Amino acid sequence: MNCDPIARHYRWLEHAVFGALLERARLYWMGELRQARRVLVLGDGDGRFVAEFAQANRTARIDSLELSQRMLDVAEERLRRSGIAPSNDGRVSLRRADVEKDDPPGWGYDLVVSHFFLDCFDEWAIAQIVERLAPHLDADARWLVTDFRIPQGLVVAAFSRALVAIMYRFFRFATGLETKRLADFPKVFEEAGFVRCAQARLAGGFVVSEIWRRGGSDGSQETARQKEDGLHQVKHAMHGNSDNAEGQQKQPHNGIGDEGEQGQRPGDAEQQAPQQEREHVVLHCHLR
Ligand SMILES: C[S@@+](CC[C@H](N)C(=O)[O-])C[C@H]1O[C@@H](n2cnc3c(N)ncnc32)[C@H](O)[C@@H]1O
Repeated sequence: MNCDPIARHYRWLEHAVFGALLERARLYWMGELRQARRVLVLGDGDGRFVAEFAQANRTARIDSLELSQRMLDVAEERLRRSGIAPSNDGRVSLRRADVEKDDPPGWGYDLVVSHFFLDCFDEWAIAQIVERLAPHLDADARWLVTDFRIPQGLVVAAFSRALVAIMYRFFRFATGLETKRLADFPKVFEEAGFVRCAQARLAGGFVVSEIWRRGGSDGSQETARQKEDGLHQVKHAMHGNSDNAEGQQKQPHNGIGDEGEQGQRPGDAEQQAPQQEREHVVLHCHLR
């Protein structure tokens, strides 16, 4: 895949097709990431996430790995405009790297970020990437993944499939992307020992932003069945039907995505539509 030809057009193209949706999704959990100290960002493209994150979290060290030199150039310009000078020995480093082949430059990352990046790979390749990165991560590192997903429901699923197919065709034509379909990311993460802690579904579930945590340190080593039960339990609580999961819900601290049908705060949703399932669901493992 070579994103050089689209690097300078990437932002407006995205906005022309999706408006602010993908931007909201990328930043959805920003408020939960303030504790991160050592951050690895994969395939950030034109650097929008890194620029926002580096301003929101002024102490974390960030290594951003990107394959396309032109994307890196655009990202560097963006960071400099925000008053951040990227350098390999500074707080924010932008590096040209192929995540499939190159090891990350540091150790002990407590947060990995991949927005609309894993959709460039199939399950096997994602599993290889996770395995390659694993020794470089903290035992309880978190992984923030935002990407497209095919939601349930006949009409919305058909529409989403069509849009995803168009996107893959576009990227195939413009960048030479070989992947043709969305991989089952959750399956790969579960098999690699990660536990899903938080999930935000935007646009009816077509865009999903999730925080996964490497299992182990918070007693979250569960079976898939238990995890599904946990998810169900919190969803149930969100409908106001369970005492059990009280206190397990958490709302994003970002204010982004807090408006409209898909972005209600928990309290708002209860007042407006008690029976409606809310946008975000938090499982019972700790976010931090
Ligand atoms: C679809 S774009 C997503 C960009 C950005 N993360 C976003 O949220 O829009 C995928 C990005 O991953 C980069 N990429 C693809 N394969 C890569 C690899 N093997 N190693 C590093 N970066 C890669 C591409 O150059 C591109 O910038």
